Amino acid sequence: MVGSYKPELIVNGKRLDGRMPADLRNITIEVGVVKNAVGSAYIEWGNNKIIAGVYGPKEALPKHVQDPERAIIKCRYAMSPFSSLEEHGRTGPNRRSVEISKVTKEVFENVVLLDRFPGAEIDIFIDVLQADGGTRAAGITAAAVALAASGIPMKDVPFAASVGKVGDTLILDLNKVEDNYSDADMPVAISPRTGDILLLQMDGNLTKEEVKTGIGMIQKAGEHISRLQREALKAPYERILEKYKK
Ligand code: CDP
Repeated sequence: MVGSYKPELIVNGKRLDGRMPADLRNITIEVGVVKNAVGSAYIEWGNNKIIAGVYGPKEALPKHVQDPERAIIKCRYAMSPFSSLEEHGRTGPNRRSVEISKVTKEVFENVVLLDRFPGAEIDIFIDVLQADGGTRAAGITAAAVALAASGIPMKDVPFAASVGKVGDTLILDLNKVEDNYSDADMPVAISPRTGDILLLQMDGNLTKEEVKTGIGMIQKAGEHISRLQREALKAPYERILEKYKK
């Protein structure tokens, strides 16, 4: 509960961190950060710091969860007990983390070629080390890179971002203060190749027109995010090529 106190989120057209309404925060992505995982990625998205690790495909256990037609995805999103002031000291799953794990799993069920691995499971772990708003979007973006790096076949590498509303202004990529005090927050995950929307949640109220414009802002931002994902995936190979050039 945030009470009646509400900071001015946009002053002279600029947001509190200096961004314009349609600006993303800085994003950097690195693959291969967890050597024991089949695929992994680390993302810094503004002040968010998140690691994603992928394991499998391997025999799904316990046996009764196996699907003879396709692989199943298990996903566990968690905030570390030191990731934020609010979460400070807490461990274990809660209602929010179970929800985020579920919607993230559904994103990847739509892009991973699950029918290639009957009876198997693919595990996705997303660990938030530092949180500052938009961790589900950043986590999905990182997990997509971790999955691609693992070599597990996928139709596409999805990305996610959120839009919100302050008064009449739509803002892209809310940080925590904006998330807490804005009039709406809508995280969206998209498959860039097809344009399919793989996740859309909404907190607050947006008109039909605002939803359309907001999705457009996320699609536009996605060109940049997808490029960063591709560059991160290519980086280890480019480093090897550089070595051989010398
Ligand atoms: O992170 P995301 O925006 O996807 O989810 P949210 O539930 O809208 O949370 C917004 C932000 O509030 C998070 O990114 C964290 O910075 C913060 N938060 C927290 O610190 N502790 C929680 N238990 C829940 C949220």
